[in-house]
Amino acid sequence: MPLKAHNIMLHDPNRIYVFDTTLRDGEQVPGCQLTSVEKIEIARSLELLGVDVIEAGFPVSSPGDFQSVVELSKAVSNPIICALTRANKNDIDVAAQALKYARHPRIHTGIGASDTHIKYKFNSTREDILERAVDAVKYAKKYVEDIEFYAEDAGRADNEFLARMIEAVIAAGATVVNIPDTNGYCLPDQYGAKIRFLKENVKNIDKAIISVHCHNDLGLATANTLAGIQNGARQIECTINGIGERAGNTALEEVCMILKTHHSLNLHSNINSKHFSEISGMVSRMMRMPVQSNKAIVGRNAFAHSSGIHQDGVLKHRENYEIMNPEDVGIEQSEIILTARSGRHALKHHLTRLGYEIDRINLDDIYERFLVFADQKLSIQDDDLLLLMGEGHNFKNGLFMESIDVSCGDLEIPHAKVKLNYKGAEHEAAATGNGPVNASIRAIQKIIGQDIELKEFSIQAMHGGSDDISKVNMRVNHEGKSYMGYGFSTDIVKASASAYLDAVNKFL
Ligand code: KIV
Ligand code: ZN
Repeated sequence: MPLKAHNIMLHDPNRIYVFDTTLRDGEQVPGCQLTSVEKIEIARSLELLGVDVIEAGFPVSSPGDFQSVVELSKAVSNPIICALTRANKNDIDVAAQALKYARHPRIHTGIGASDTHIKYKFNSTREDILERAVDAVKYAKKYVEDIEFYAEDAGRADNEFLARMIEAVIAAGATVVNIPDTNGYCLPDQYGAKIRFLKENVKNIDKAIISVHCHNDLGLATANTLAGIQNGARQIECTINGIGERAGNTALEEVCMILKTHHSLNLHSNINSKHFSEISGMVSRMMRMPVQSNKAIVGRNAFAHSSGIHQDGVLKHRENYEIMNPEDVGIEQSEIILTARSGRHALKHHLTRLGYEIDRINLDDIYERFLVFADQKLSIQDDDLLLLMGEGHNFKNGLFMESIDVSCGDLEIPHAKVKLNYKGAEHEAAATGNGPVNASIRAIQKIIGQDIELKEFSIQAMHGGSDDISKVNMRVNHEGKSYMGYGFSTDIVKASASAYLDAVNKFL
């Protein structure tokens, strides 16, 4: 059903209508252009998300945009499909044609409202612009009932003139009046006051819905949108991930989560926030626009805790450091990231999750080694933890490597000096070889007094990157039997020597 002011007044004055412009204002970003097929996929996800209006494109701008509006009109049935135009007959004719299959069509027409736009963009006067605005609305009304009018650069427009313009276009048939802060200029209190001014000074304002469309040039798009709805606007214009011209538009997920989190606002939308994580990833991938890690709601770190104090707090009681439930935005659970700043509580949490039952004494020992390990890596993954536990196993079983020093390169014969500990006693040996790994293993063989045959040897990087951990697998033969060993380290020679010791420890 097209939105009408009286519907809102009669049914639910606290309902916020969500107008998504990811496929129009968002798609204007260089490099973000989508094919019609991709647009349809996003539009279907927006429908599932529960948006009320999808701005499908600017049909006169290109044949591709025209076709996308046609295809989206056919593909989507519940939301209103909106097409953008300038305030001229040709744009409106083309938009109406593109919308011919839409079940709920809307034409979004408009013109500049600030003196800067009137003078320097249109080389015109306030009176002439007013007339063109009214004519455009009347003309569009011949095609569809639902007409949204935008007063471009309303953020910098004179409020008295803006009020005249809005009153005139409502009288001409506009059902929604959009007050864009096109350049992201306003402060929240200024923008809120502008909406209030229109509510209080436009005589027929109850015949239309006020819409807010804010850009993020000063990082205020979400704050301004909120100020707008707190002062009487009932439609928000936004994009997924906040993409859009320059610094972007208001992020849909941010405003909707504000409404969901702050019940005292007493405002609500039809959005099912559980789809946020998925649709954010889809838009980011298709538009080749990575989401910054610290982006509110959908950034990779939005529900990740990395400092020891926060991790401890969140593990004791999630709400100590989380104001939203990650499940509400489609994330299974918050993440406790293991880094060198993590505490025992976080380490224990992950080891328990991986199935380890550890008593306090072991945890202290593992934690010491974890810190040494974490200092070498940016973050510790499950694989790393499994390897860390494997090293602990070596330590309990027998031969333990206290130190290893190697020298190699084009100018020297590879040489290794290894110090092992066996049941508290230290043993040291040095050897040469055809490479540092071979030299290390020969030094170990000297200590244990046996030439244990190495049958298999593989080195694998765990994640990629030059700071990576190498995982070494070895198979040795002893008295007709095979024994597997593995070792890990950011140093491949050390990882190899550890793997050899691990295998040897299995039969010594
Ligand atoms: O930012 C803006 O003013 C716009 C209008 C075309 C609605 O995107
Ligand atoms: Zn815009």
